[in-house]
Parts: sequence; C-alpha cells; structure tokens
Amino acid sequence: MEACKDAGLAKSIGVSNFNRRQLEMILNKPGLKHKPVSNQVECHPYFTQPKLLEFCRQHDIVIVGYSPLGTSRDETWVNVSSPPLLEDPVLNAIGKKYNKTAAQVALRFSIQRGVVVIPKSFNPQRIRENFQIFDFSLTEKEMKEIEALNKNVRYVELLMWRDHPEYPFNDEY
Ligand code: A2P
Repeated sequence: MEACKDAGLAKSIGVSNFNRRQLEMILNKPGLKHKPVSNQVECHPYFTQPKLLEFCRQHDIVIVGYSPLGTSRDETWVNVSSPPLLEDPVLNAIGKKYNKTAAQVALRFSIQRGVVVIPKSFNPQRIRENFQIFDFSLTEKEMKEIEALNKNVRYVELLMWRDHPEYPFNDEY
C-alpha cells in the first residue's frame, strides 16, 4: 500500500476492522513510511467504540463508521440480538425536538464526535435525508444521553472469520 501511495495510485492509506493491537503493529512497524489515516469500523449509538476512538484520536487516525444506522438487519450476516437502532426512544425523542428523524440524530451524533459516517440507502428520499444533518447540533447533554445508549454489542461480527489468527474482535477493542 505504501508503494501504491508513492506511485500516486492512492491518496492515503486506510484500514478496516483493525483493533488497537493491529493498529499498533502498523504504527510501530520499523521504517513505516505512510501511516493509515483512517480505520473503518462499526460505529453508532449502540456501539460507540469509546476506547478505539480515543486511541485513534491520539494517533490522528479518523474513524470511519460503517453501519451508522444499525444495518439492514439481514439475519444472514447481522447479529440481531441488539434491538433496531432507529427505533430507539432516546434517538426518536431528540429527533422530535429538532424535527429530525432518529436516523438523522444517529448520524449527527457520529459526525459531532468526529466519526465519519457512511450510511447506505437504496431510497432517494432517505439518501437526501441522510445529508440533512448539518443544519442542527446536539447539546452536550444530548450527546451524553446518546453515548449512554452504548450496548457494546456488535451488529457485524464477521463470524465467518472467527478462526483466523488475526480475527480482530477477540480483543476488548
Ligand atoms: P433503505 O435502503 O431502504 O433506505 P446502515 O447504513 O447502518 O448499513 O443501514 C442501512 C439500512 O438503513 C438499510 O436497510 C436502509 O434501508 C436503512 N436506511 C438508510 N437510511 C435511512 C433513513 N434515513 N431512515 C430509515 N432507514 C434508513
């Protein structure tokens, strides 16, 4: 990847699903030329990643949050033991106050704590809705209320790779 960047084929290097130990392995690599600028991991109000977020902040690595709306809940790959994120009463109540949807509140929460979001939708109206999060802001109290929703349970466990020696989700973070 460093060679790709040097050749002008990549602007920056990013990684995905790296835990702290794996990030440290890269950051401490002798002769490291270009460190990763981002780590794409699951991140949303039910899985807020406080420790990984802090570690990444300290190392100038941006967290890119996948499944920021709590996934499509497709049971072939999603752990649906956690309830649907967008039905959460706190997100909906805060949304009511700002005339926004629970989805918009969830996305606003993430960007307001410095997490890049990549929501997915096949629906043009919802795609537009997901952009309309820059005309309101959540108070500190609301941010704390949403942070407190963290269940520390992943929707995306990638269990098909659980036997791989570098399966990332056995570590605490
Ligand atoms: P749809 O494609 O019908 O809009 P995630 O980004 O967390 O993976 O979530 C994707 C899921 O969230 C999809 O099922 C998508 O369905 C749905 N979704 C996307 N945007 C919204 C929204 N603004 N409100 C409700 N559901 C949404």
